[in-house]
Amino acid sequence: MSQKILHSLEEGISMKILVVGSGGREHALGWKLAQSPRVTAVYMAPGNGGTALQERLYNINITNLDELADFAEQRQIAFTLVGPEAPLAAGIVNLFRSRSLKIFGPTREAAQLESSKDFAKTLMKCYGIPTAEYATFSDADLAHAYVQEKGAPLVIKADGLAAGKGVVVAQTLNEAHCAIRMMLTDNKLGSAGARVVIEEYLQGEEASFIVMVDGKHVLALASSQDHKRLLDGDQGPNTGGMGAYSQAPIITPKLHLRVMREIILPTVRAMEQEGLCYTGFLYAGLMIDAQGNPKTLEFNCRMGDPETQSIMTRLKGDFTCILEHALAGTLDAIEPEWDQRTAVGVVLAAHQYPYAPRKGDSIYYIPEQTENLVIFHAGTNLVDDKLVTSSGRVLCVVGLADSVCEARLIAYKAIHRIQFDGMQYRRDIGYRALNSKH
Ligand code: AMP
Ligand code: GLY
Repeated sequence: MSQKILHSLEEGISMKILVVGSGGREHALGWKLAQSPRVTAVYMAPGNGGTALQERLYNINITNLDELADFAEQRQIAFTLVGPEAPLAAGIVNLFRSRSLKIFGPTREAAQLESSKDFAKTLMKCYGIPTAEYATFSDADLAHAYVQEKGAPLVIKADGLAAGKGVVVAQTLNEAHCAIRMMLTDNKLGSAGARVVIEEYLQGEEASFIVMVDGKHVLALASSQDHKRLLDGDQGPNTGGMGAYSQAPIITPKLHLRVMREIILPTVRAMEQEGLCYTGFLYAGLMIDAQGNPKTLEFNCRMGDPETQSIMTRLKGDFTCILEHALAGTLDAIEPEWDQRTAVGVVLAAHQYPYAPRKGDSIYYIPEQTENLVIFHAGTNLVDDKLVTSSGRVLCVVGLADSVCEARLIAYKAIHRIQFDGMQYRRDIGYRALNSKH
């Protein structure tokens, strides 16, 4: 451990940390940070009903970036962690750094890896990073002609951030043409859809590969897989994620090395060469084909939700130390320790999620946390000391056990007690890991 970190470890025994965001991912980050004996307070901006109830977490009702920087300065926040992509794309890291405030995340320019699909695809193409073939269009006629030439299936993606609504996996030509009309002609996604990336459809199994980057060094976190579709058997509409588990058996040690060598490290180096030194969490969404070859579906410049909930429950030791190394540029000097158990997290979603989730339903009977069960809040609010639903994904129930099968049982047993009107969840979270040949 470097002298600099040792010094700050000794000093930092009453650390205050700021976490930006309000979802299950942010609850999991705050929950883990608050376990550190060095931390006296984790401020959640704005947080949710669960973070309001948890010891050492304090919700603050601030979302404006300048006001967040004022808060960090006035309260002498040791460092800030950013959960969602929107504040990163809006330049929260640029702003905090300009005021000499410590923050872990990419700058607005580096966050283009997520905020512009065309930027990410161009970078991957230039630097030979494996990804699906593609072309980018802002002219609808040219896009329609390209689709006609390539044939279905194809994937149509809005270039910009579209809150999970910007990707259409078109199984037919008609669906592809409709997606182009929706984005380029009818402007249904606003400026996010003013350019579209049209991609070759890839088959295989998806996995989430999340790392921390300090500008030079990369520290891989435990692997995970999420379930993006609403219904069992990966049916129904795409969602933000209906459940996740960690470890992902498909990421074998051999594949891990390959992903680092072929995708993650070349991306970090490419960003450096482009003068956009990358710092922060980097999440590669991978598609692994039947032969075990990985390709990059997308990059996110943040942690995954609900992957974070499973990953954080498995992280041993003091997360603040890892983050201090990340901020000091010394991620090569540490090795995180992982609970060998599997974590399976099941999302409980509100009535009509993901279309028009209903708010205001009372939530009952949330079990207490135990050694092998943790419940993270996302779309919950405290109203007159009672919990009610406040957005699409409401809770994430994480079970931990030596096997996927047992971890699932623990999560589902807890879920059977929880009640709110219109509650939806998948009954098959972790099925791929259960059936895995790896
Ligand atoms: P993205 O936001 O780019 O990860 O896309 C959301 C989801 O769409 C992914 O998790 C995949 O399930 C699917 N998807 C994206 N790109 C492709 C592709 N090229 N081939 C097949 N499925 C894709
Ligand atoms: N779970 C997918 C994501 O966070 O983007």
